[in-house]
Amino acid sequence: MGVGIISVGTALPSKILTNFDLEKIVDTSDEWITTRTGIKTRYIAEDGVNPSDLGAEASLKALERANISPDDIDLIITTSSSPDMIFPPTSAIIQEKIKAKRAGGFDLLSACTGFVSSLITGAKFIESGDVETVLIVGTETLSRLVDWQDRNTCVLFGDAAGAVILREVGEGYGLISWNLHLDGEGASLLEIPAGISRIPATYESVDRRLHYIKMNGREVFKFSVRVIAESTEEALYKANLSPKDLDWLIPHQANIRIIQAGAERLGIPLEKVGITLDKYGNTSTASIPLTLEELLTNKKIKNGDLIAFVGFGAGLSWGTALMRWKEIKDKEN
Ligand code: UT7
Repeated sequence: MGVGIISVGTALPSKILTNFDLEKIVDTSDEWITTRTGIKTRYIAEDGVNPSDLGAEASLKALERANISPDDIDLIITTSSSPDMIFPPTSAIIQEKIKAKRAGGFDLLSACTGFVSSLITGAKFIESGDVETVLIVGTETLSRLVDWQDRNTCVLFGDAAGAVILREVGEGYGLISWNLHLDGEGASLLEIPAGISRIPATYESVDRRLHYIKMNGREVFKFSVRVIAESTEEALYKANLSPKDLDWLIPHQANIRIIQAGAERLGIPLEKVGITLDKYGNTSTASIPLTLEELLTNKKIKNGDLIAFVGFGAGLSWGTALMRWKEIKDKEN
């Protein structure tokens, strides 16, 4: 049985923050951000707009596009690096917002690898035969976890959501190979040190700004370049394929230089790589579905295309879902 993506929906907040806006907040420049990261703008959620709101909006668009009722959803898997709360799960809040009355579900935490981990998990649930329709939601308001005094990180992240619906798509299509990896030795390279159990919120933890994202950019950069290439190759090898067979590489959108170096290692030209970080910045779990939607909107992806979705980030964690694309017959087609 092949399990694949039958619909995509995305949501963006209304406020755009440009590099020039950031020049007024921290000691940075449009020139530095553009050349070092490739990012020009990012979206920032207004006060009161939470990941569940963006996630519900993206989910309803995906449902509408596939002409599927919320009642048809068996399972909701939400993945977020900035969930509404630790509990209740954001999946439950989205379930209520979209009125998916029959759905079960859970949140899956694996930082920027979350969309790929969820895609694989959802596909395996359907392959088991126990469920038919799975909604995957990657949704973020990272702007709330970013230290707006730290120029090393605040220029990178953005808010957004992307949702996909998974169903059986026929033999030979959908997920054909995958891998997921962890290396906890690198746990401290990218973290939010305080605010939960290890260091609960105290006046001191807040004064020391420990409830914000901390990153060793250089080390995470080297790791990211290495694993984009290794993980993609591993998934291709498992399926008896090689990088030249790939039609699209859709990596997590962290930094244009990471994506370029990863693609170069694989020998894949940039024309075959989905890139949207110039507009959205790093939106963690939402970055892959945002990029997929843009390629679909521009009619770049064809029936039968081989696509590698590659996630990487805190953990360290990384992985690839390799899919044979089955053309989406949505309402507009
Ligand atoms: O989503 C999870 C995965 N995340 C990632 O993959 C992010 C990985 N890391 C990166 O993308 C890059 O390491 C960064 C974009 C974060 C930083 O780029 P870099 O080329 O590695 O710069 P750097 O950290 O080596 O810093 C170079 C210089 C430093 O100044 P000195 O020490 O050489 O004087 C920084 O202080 O650039 C300085 N710098 C900045 N300057 C202007 C750092 N951030 C900024 C800034 N504006 N925003």
